[in-house]
Amino acid sequence: MDVPDGFASGAPCDTKSIAVPSHWQLEGYGAPQYTNTEYPFPVDPPRAPRGPVGSYRCMTQVPPSWLDAVAHGARVVLRTEGIDSFGELWCNGTLLGATVGSRLPHEFDVTDLVHDGDNLIAVHVHQWSAASYLEDQDMWWLSGIFRPVTLRLLPSGLPSDVRCHADFDPATGDGILTVTSDLPAEVGVPQLGITGSTGEPISVGMVQPWTAETPRLYDVQVTTPAGTVTQRVGFRRVDVSDGVFRLNGRRTVLRGVNRHDFHPDRGRALTRDDLLDDVLVLKRHNVNAVRTSHYPPHPDFLDLCDEFGLYVIDECDLETHGFVDFGWRRNPSADPQWRDALVDRMRRTVTRDRNHPCVVMWSLGNEAGTGSSVSAMATWCREADPTRPIHYEPDQNTADTDVWSQMYPGHDAVSAIADRAEPALPDVHADAARRGKPYILCEFAHAMGNGAGATAEYLRDVERSDRMIGAFVWEMFDHGLRTSIDGRPTWGYGGDFGETLHSGNFCCDGLLFPDRTPSPAMLDWAALNAPARIRVTDHEVHVRNIRDHRDTSDLSYRWTITDESGNEYDGPLIIPPIARGASVTVALPVEVLDIFDAPHGELAVTVHAYLTNETAYAPAGFEVSNSTAEIPATAGAEDDTAVAVVAPTPTARTLTVGPAEINRATGMLTRLFGNPLAGPSLTLWRAPTDNDHGGGLNGDLTPVATHWSRMGLHRLTHELLDLQVDDRSIVTMVRSAPADSDIAVVTRAVWSAQTDVVRCHLSCTPEGEWSHPVARIGWMLQLPDWTGDFTWWGDGPGESYIDSRNGTRLGLWRRSLDQLHTPYVRPQENGQRSNVRWGELQATDAADVTGLRIAADRPIGMTVRRHSLDQLARAAHDSQLEAEGTTWWHLDVAQHGLGSAACGPEPLPQHTLMMQPQALTLRFTATG
Ligand code: GAL
Repeated sequence: MDVPDGFASGAPCDTKSIAVPSHWQLEGYGAPQYTNTEYPFPVDPPRAPRGPVGSYRCMTQVPPSWLDAVAHGARVVLRTEGIDSFGELWCNGTLLGATVGSRLPHEFDVTDLVHDGDNLIAVHVHQWSAASYLEDQDMWWLSGIFRPVTLRLLPSGLPSDVRCHADFDPATGDGILTVTSDLPAEVGVPQLGITGSTGEPISVGMVQPWTAETPRLYDVQVTTPAGTVTQRVGFRRVDVSDGVFRLNGRRTVLRGVNRHDFHPDRGRALTRDDLLDDVLVLKRHNVNAVRTSHYPPHPDFLDLCDEFGLYVIDECDLETHGFVDFGWRRNPSADPQWRDALVDRMRRTVTRDRNHPCVVMWSLGNEAGTGSSVSAMATWCREADPTRPIHYEPDQNTADTDVWSQMYPGHDAVSAIADRAEPALPDVHADAARRGKPYILCEFAHAMGNGAGATAEYLRDVERSDRMIGAFVWEMFDHGLRTSIDGRPTWGYGGDFGETLHSGNFCCDGLLFPDRTPSPAMLDWAALNAPARIRVTDHEVHVRNIRDHRDTSDLSYRWTITDESGNEYDGPLIIPPIARGASVTVALPVEVLDIFDAPHGELAVTVHAYLTNETAYAPAGFEVSNSTAEIPATAGAEDDTAVAVVAPTPTARTLTVGPAEINRATGMLTRLFGNPLAGPSLTLWRAPTDNDHGGGLNGDLTPVATHWSRMGLHRLTHELLDLQVDDRSIVTMVRSAPADSDIAVVTRAVWSAQTDVVRCHLSCTPEGEWSHPVARIGWMLQLPDWTGDFTWWGDGPGESYIDSRNGTRLGLWRRSLDQLHTPYVRPQENGQRSNVRWGELQATDAADVTGLRIAADRPIGMTVRRHSLDQLARAAHDSQLEAEGTTWWHLDVAQHGLGSAACGPEPLPQHTLMMQPQALTLRFTATG
């Protein structure tokens, strides 16, 4: 639609209404585009291409009282919080100026332009501008007025620029308040009975300091004869001393996530409720810190972080990552003509957010290279706010920063850094300076699809060394946008909106699914960071308070015991409050020990810590952590291995042993307890995860999924080599191998049965050279389409993998097959239950099948699903998965770890699965 002359002054034109704030691409105009680093237009800085322009108009009323106030010297200001990327604004037909810095505020004085009655505000928003070169964050390109626009009255004589520095002296427990303002004023803190003046430090005596664990806020009143301005503060001190990052004098560990503003329907145009949801989900999952990757968040988010208690690394709206493709040639960070633009962004970030106690560090931006313009930002920032350290990850020499930051380093490198034993920098001075600085993992654990793995190992290094500030998982959200494909609702990613240049599903790499449902990785991270770290044995409970600033007097405890028949026992457990960083050990109550003493099968004893009282973020009784110990069965528990076995009976095509029927030609089961069924066939492959497909941070690793496909793991064929029958058993030898390869695995299966029990002892031996990891070592059964539930005695209730299993625990669990499936945005390996002793597919009345229980002689991984590996590997969206009329049941001795290779390291050596001989005995019984 062409914009007519006079648009800004109200000329009639054919307009449509659109919600503001919003992105026009999500309101039916144009389409979103997702790129990671790539600029979606030819790179020729500072020239940006002409692109779509969104023209907005709105009428607004100015209250008559404002006009009275204006007559007495008040000012009226038009403030925009976020316009992407470049806005030209008019008020009643007069051009006000332009906005740049999409995630930064702008103010225009419209005092002389507003009048009684209707006032016309008009804005042209250009999708592309020179500023787009500075805003190449890994996210959707979404345009428009996406944050609030407000008209504000600034009464005459009232301060309009108030800065509060609420310091806390850890040595005395006193607060020191310094308020500066554009007008001299009186300062008061009614809750403390304190008064003073602007411009001078006011000693406020003993205060409760602000921490994320104790987010105590006070109202500061700044008063002039014209009235009072109120500013919320929290007294706290952030500093780096002796190479340690401290809050209120104490080393404080940041247990963080990287967070973009995101919503699957609204993009970055968030409501207060969205922001509150985000804060609640983080608090309920024991996250204590957020890096606002990679721009200042919606301003309300910081209010909520102050209030609920989250540490924030506030990052400037700067990323020029696309220049990496040109060897960083013409990168604005190193080009003096961009210096003012960069410094201006930093200035506006700090000015907007400096009064927030939650902000504990400034970040100059992300992946914008280094250079004089970035250094100028640091210089400005350090002068303007010496009270917070400066972060910037690309600065590996720490020339501009107070902390050393890295993303996705290998675990060994991090351990060396924790030991202060990292390799030296070539420049001795730079090396000495960096060695004296604390270290932060601003990004690690790439939570794309199923993963990341090994967060526990990194966190252990972070916790054990006081050089370490903390670690931030990449990232909070899967940025899937709600759309539909072939009429089915789905989460859209790059390429789903007709984009030719895009980065596929690389934006779906969060701890939360697009609709904010926590993924298994979120539960893993939550368990690792639980404030009460519990360890249970067969006689005692050990609890460590991992908080840095408060005791555990807010927590209560219970014990529960579950057995594999579903019996449950529980009771309270008294654990005295534990001081910050301290531990206690208490004996398990006598009732528990009595249960252990009586004859029993295997037991799971769990200690749960929960909130005694309601808090701002969760109700009373909310469970913050738990831990389970496995208590072995007492001697004399049921053992039927000595019961007489039945002899196999041959027929023309099959061999029958008890309730099992085996095909003579294949050596595989064809029927079990009357159910048609096939297998067990050796399986070494999985539908690759996003991390399996990953080539590491710099793309220089060969993805393990590529090795798997070169090895042919996805196309094994199985050939019966030998079949022996005697009066007790059937023994088969099956060779599994891909075409055109000399690697193989031979499975020996020994089948025996009693009247109502079938046993199979499986052992496998590799042949040839297996030089790369395999995805899994296990066997798979194919069963009829199953409608009954799956019940198991093992870890649950969610899925888990060898390097991501902290969010699960031993118990008796029951789920439908659909619930076992984790709906990763792009389908991939999912749904494994680990440490399983037995699993049972239950029959339903409607189905013509017999319930089947499989018990293993060692804990194994079980996965039951309605989708074949091939379909899982091929489908691009979860919504495209079709039921195939078959149920697959994987019985895995081991699976390869998850790792982080979509943008980081592969699984750790101890989580890497190499082909090796394995053995497993399965016991099959019919149920129900
Ligand atoms: C980092 C970057 C993030 C994101 C991540 C991969 O290099 O800072 O913005 O792109 O990689 O998902």
